[in-house]
This record gives sequence, C-alpha cells and structure tokens, in this order.
Amino acid sequence: MNNKKILVTGATGYIGSHVCVELILLGYDVYALDNLSNSSVDTIDRIQKITGHRLKFFHIDICDEASLLNLFSINNFDAVIHLAGFKAVKESVSFPLQYFYNNVSGSINLLKCLEKYHINKIIFSSSATVYGVPQSLPIKEDARLSPVNPYGRSKLMVETILSDLLASSNAWQIGILRYFNPVGAHSSGLIGESPLGIPNNLMPYISRVAVGGMPVLNVFGNDYSTHDGTGVRDYIHVEDLARGHIAALEYLFSGKGSFTVNLGTGIGFSVLDVIKAFELASGRTINFVVKPRREGDIDSCYADATKAKQVLSWVAKKNLHDMCFDSWHWQIKSQEK
Ligand code: NAD
Ligand code: UFG
Repeated sequence: MNNKKILVTGATGYIGSHVCVELILLGYDVYALDNLSNSSVDTIDRIQKITGHRLKFFHIDICDEASLLNLFSINNFDAVIHLAGFKAVKESVSFPLQYFYNNVSGSINLLKCLEKYHINKIIFSSSATVYGVPQSLPIKEDARLSPVNPYGRSKLMVETILSDLLASSNAWQIGILRYFNPVGAHSSGLIGESPLGIPNNLMPYISRVAVGGMPVLNVFGNDYSTHDGTGVRDYIHVEDLARGHIAALEYLFSGKGSFTVNLGTGIGFSVLDVIKAFELASGRTINFVVKPRREGDIDSCYADATKAKQVLSWVAKKNLHDMCFDSWHWQIKSQEK
C-alpha cells in the first residue's frame, strides 16, 4: 500500500480517468476533482468496476478559488496531477477568453493553493500543440515553441508560469508532460473518450463510422508531403500515457528535480495507415472520401521520445493495432448501454 495522497484535477475526463485507474492499482490514495463540464460522474462507478475501489470525488471548478482553498485546507496532498482544462482547438479560436480563463486562471488558482499549503510537486498536462508548426522532425523538447491557436497558447502560458515558479524557488518540483495524440481506451472497455456530437479527432470519427453512426469519414487532404499524402501524427495509447504520469510522479517523489518531456511513441502514422489498422482490428470497412485540407493542419507531427526514456525510464508499449482494437472495443461496449 502506497499511502501518498494525490489530487487529480480533470479526473473524470478521458485521460484523467485512466490516470486514476493506474494510481489506484498502485495503491495511491487518490482524490478526484472535476467540474463535470466535459465528463460524467458515472466514470467514478466505472473506475470502481475496474479497480474495486471507490474514488473520493470532489465536484469543484478550479476557477472557484474559495472551494479549492477549502479542499486544500482539509486535505494534505503529497502531489497534484493537473489535467483539468478545455481542449478543443476550434472552440478556442471562437471563445479565446473562456479558454484563457479556464486553462490559465484556473491553473493559477490551483498553484496559489499549492503555494499556500506548501505542496511542491505538480504534474501538468501540456500538449504537442505548444510546438506549432515543427521546424524539424522528430520534435525534441527544446524545439521552438510557437503555438498557432488560443488553446495552444493557454498551454504555453501555464508552462511559462511553471518555469517562473521554478526560477522563484528551488523547492518546486514540476513535471510538464507534452502529450502527442492520445487515442484508444481502457482494455476493459469501461472507460474511454465519448465526444459529444460530431467528433473532431480522427480515431473517434473512424469508430463512429465503423459502428454505422456516421456514413463516411472525410480524409482532410491527400497532397501532404508524407508517404501517402495524408497527415501523419504520433498516436499514443491512453494507457501508455497514464503510465507516463506514474513514471513522472515517481520521478518527482525520488527528488531528482523538474522536467519537461514529450509523451509519444516517436512513430508517425498517416490517416490511411490508421484506417487500414482500424479495419483489421474491427473487421469493418471504413468508408472514406478525400476532402480538401482542414485549416490549421500540418503535414507531420511526431515526437522524439528519447528524453522520456532517459529521464523517466518510460516508453510507450502499445502499438497501432492495440490503439484501434481498444477504441473499437470501447465503441462496441458503449453501444450496448
Ligand atoms: P477531457 O475533456 O476528457 O478531460 C478534462 C476534464 O477536465 C473534464 O472532465 C472536464 O470536465 C474537466 N474540467 C475542465 N475545466 C475544468 C475546471 N475549470 N474545473 C474542474 N474541472 C474541469 O480531456 P482529456 O483529453 O482527458 O484532456 C486532459 C488534459 O490533457 C487537458 O488539459 C488537455 O488539454 C490535455 N491534452 C489533451 C490532449 C488530447 O488530445 N486529448 C492532447 C494534449 C493535451
Ligand atoms: N483527420 C481527418 N479526418 C477527420 C479528423 C482528422 O482526415 O475527420 C486527420 C487530420 O487532418 C490529421 C489527423 O487526422 O491529419 C489527426 O487529426 P486529429 O484531429 O485527430 O488530431 P490533431 O493532430 O489535429 O490534433 C490533436 C488534438 C489537439 C492537440 C494535437 C497535438 O486534437 O488538441 O493533437 O497533441 F493539440
């Protein structure tokens, strides 16, 4: 039994729920916080089904400073994993203030609580989107940071705040994780990602087409300079990503210091590669049509994953087949309900 108390913000969300499962299975004492703006409280029941453990859940908005302070005043956390935030790129372009308020002001409230209660360990969910259009591939952590939308800029602002905190006192121990493209679902099929309405991202869209919920997948562009002309990304299984948080937490507890790392596989797959792999994993045919490029998309984006291996001894283990298979399993199980 590991009796360390970990606060997870955004705990009922897609990635947060997988992080909670990993933490519980390793015996951490997990405190789950979420305002349920993009998730459901049912996730707590599902996590219980997987782990046999009932999470302590706090329905709190990180923008509500008084409620946050109250939570910190009665609980002595050893570390915080901060995933709460809005994440839709297109929405951030239409509603930038909402994004900066929620993602940046919310994070400042949280950090003020950490400072007040002398909690010095935090892991922050950042994104490969902070790199913007990469100057070279694979992308290393010291590459130029130049996000091209308000969502990405909100992530970079929080990274900047964290680096200023580090400069202010060497007591802070901060882990910044830059995720590439998280996909897949828990192998139990009990937790995964369920975007409301029409999915924006490739994998949930393919799943929806495979199950018959949408007639056809639009492939955005086949004239990119990639091996088959379609966009290339670094897809990472959400369970691997969750393990990356454990590795990050263990590193902070070992007292070795702060870090910023990419969490990706280091391998880029094209849209057509993903379609093919999904067809094999699901046994279904994916109907698709090629459409013009989607605004803001780039040719290729994949990580240099060596730093995470060197620093955290973490590597992604699951392959594209696993990602497609688990996405499909989750889709089928969701249809059953
Ligand atoms: P998600 O929307 O499923 O989870 C985020 C959770 O945060 C949701 O449950 C939501 O209800 C909660 N939340 C939002 N604002 C909140 C607030 N003010 N107070 C409390 N809770 C709040 O998204 P996800 O995919 O699990 O992403 C988790 C984190 O990882 C986010 O910060 C996101 O920006 C980052 N990230 C995600 C991806 C991706 O493609 N999924 C890629 C890179 C980074
Ligand atoms: N694509 C299609 N059809 C679709 C959806 C996507 O062809 O219906 C293509 C895109 O053009 C791109 C690839 O599939 O080439 C991946 O697109 P996603 O929307 O799944 O992912 P992105 O790389 O565009 O963006 C994701 C997250 C961002 C995050 C970024 C980097 O949505 O929030 O990864 O981590 F910033």
